[in-house]
Amino acid sequence: MKKTKIFGHRGAAGTHPENTMISFKEAAEVGADGIELDVQLSKDGEVVVIHDEKVDRTTNGKGYVKDLSVKELKKLDASHKFSKKYGFCGIPTLEEVFEWAESNQLEINVEFKNSLFEYEGLERKSIELVHKYKLQNRVIFSSFNHESLVKAYKIDPTIEGAILYMEKMYEPWEYAKILHLGAIHPYRRTVRLDIVEACRQNKVAIRPFTINDKKEMKKLIDFNCDAIITDYPSKALEIRDKGAGSKILGFL
Ligand code: G3P
Ligand code: CA
Repeated sequence: MKKTKIFGHRGAAGTHPENTMISFKEAAEVGADGIELDVQLSKDGEVVVIHDEKVDRTTNGKGYVKDLSVKELKKLDASHKFSKKYGFCGIPTLEEVFEWAESNQLEINVEFKNSLFEYEGLERKSIELVHKYKLQNRVIFSSFNHESLVKAYKIDPTIEGAILYMEKMYEPWEYAKILHLGAIHPYRRTVRLDIVEACRQNKVAIRPFTINDKKEMKKLIDFNCDAIITDYPSKALEIRDKGAGSKILGFL
C-alpha cells in the first residue's frame, strides 16, 4: 500500500507565515510530499497567493485583494505573527511558486479562493501557468466552489480537481465522479474509515484537512488516506515515518 502523503497547509503555516515562500520552502526542506496554497486575482488580474479576501489579517495592509494591484500587494509584509522571527515576507504570485517548484518534486494543491468573489479568469490563468511550467502531473486544484472546479476541468481535464467540503456529505466519492473530479478534500471531522475505503474502491483520492493533532494524524495515516493536509508537516512526517501506520504508537 502507498504511504499517506504529507501536504503542508499554506506551506508550513504552524511555524512559518502562511502562503509565503519561506513557508513553502520550509515544507520542502522537512521533506513534505506536497504543499497547499490559496489563490485569488489582484486588481490587475495576476494570480496571487493569499488566503483571505482581505489583506488585513495576514499583512500590514488593509482592503480587498481584488482592489489592489500586484505592485501594491507586493509592498505588503505578509510575515504576520512571525514578523519578529522572519522579517519581511512578500505575497507570492502563483508564477513565483511554480518557478521555484522547478527545483523540487513537490505536489502543489492550488485552492481557488473564489467562493465570495468569482475572480473571472482565475481558473484559466492558473491553468496557463500550470502549462507554462509543465506541472500538469503535480498540480491538484481544489475549491469549496465546485462550479469553479468543473470550469477548470472543462479547460484541462488532465489536471486533477478535488472538492473541498466542511459538512458531512452523502457518498462524496460519487459526487466527485459525477463532476469528473478525481479527489475529495474533506474537513477532518467528517472522515471515517468506511469513507476512505469507499474512495479507494472508487479510485477517488481522499486528502482531509487540516490535521494538526498527533493522534488524529496517526489515525488518518492508519486509515491510509492518500494524503493529509497539515500546518505541521515535520510533525506529521515524524509520525508517518516512525511507523504510525503500524498501529503501535500507543504513547502518542
Ligand atoms: O485545502 C484545505 C484547506 O486549506 C481549506 O480551508 O480555509 O484553510 O483554506 P482553508
Ligand atoms: Ca486553503
